Amino acid sequence: MSALQAREVRELARAKINLFLRVGERREDGFHEMESLIAPTSLADELIATEADGITLEIDPSPGREETPAGPDNLAVVAALALAEVAAPSRGVAIELVKNIPVAGGLGGGSADAAAVLLALNDLWDCGLSPGALDELAATIGSDVPALLQDGASLVRGRGELVEPIEIEQMIWVIVPFDFRVLTPEVFGWWDEDAPASTGNPSAVIAAARSGDIAGLGAAMFNDLEGPVTARHPEIAATRERVLDAGALGAIMCGSGPSVAALTAGMDAAFEVMRAVPEGGIAVAPALRSEIQWDDPDDGAL
Ligand code: C5P
Repeated sequence: MSALQAREVRELARAKINLFLRVGERREDGFHEMESLIAPTSLADELIATEADGITLEIDPSPGREETPAGPDNLAVVAALALAEVAAPSRGVAIELVKNIPVAGGLGGGSADAAAVLLALNDLWDCGLSPGALDELAATIGSDVPALLQDGASLVRGRGELVEPIEIEQMIWVIVPFDFRVLTPEVFGWWDEDAPASTGNPSAVIAAARSGDIAGLGAAMFNDLEGPVTARHPEIAATRERVLDAGALGAIMCGSGPSVAALTAGMDAAFEVMRAVPEGGIAVAPALRSEIQWDDPDDGAL
């Protein structure tokens, strides 16, 4: 296939923050019932899907960030193979992924890449899958993938497959990544082992996020997995304290961790928090897919 004729589709894969995460019973299939408010953010990997023979993935790691393996276990490849199987058996693609999201940090980077691949290839391969059919396919790839297919934030139930869109107000967060990783299955194992009671109040988080009451949100947000992970990695608690001392309105571990997300009163407050963390922080805001723009040095700002 000539490179000149190859069609290309670009998509952004947005990191997510869980404004609350409640964990329930372990089900017979091994997954836990959960409930969460998931907000995709302005921090995003950049994906270019170009028509090709066969399915390949090339990853361009961000400077200073850990490399992501580009093998068959990479969720971007899993997503491409899954879509090809149901809707485009003979099609191929060369996927190029610029990684900006810290890897294995609880920010849903791999799931976001999978969601972006599904959207890009549904277009590139003219599959014509409906949003509902894409959601179903997404759920077979990973628990966070259906939420990250949506344009904006969503309330999520089941193991992650029941997704209800929700509008939330703008707010500025600082994400603090760590240089160690925790594995999601292990974290849910710690939850089972410790069996803590869930104490948070999802309704208070939802109401505050909807109305833009950031002080109320800072006080109400919670993550059931934070206790078990912090018990084994006390540096999470230390970072939490540091960002709160620097003026954050609240701080929460992201997903299954270990990254911490600090909620701030605005950009000036976010810079204060970023100055206070030796690990380095990344300022982000909730972002609709239709709102954030591809930053392409060849084309200038789009
Ligand atoms: O779906 P995902 O690949 O993100 O899940 C990784 C692992 O995390 C699962 O194999 C399971 O051990 C655990 N998990 C869970 N309950 C969920 C989501 C994930 O127990 N709702």
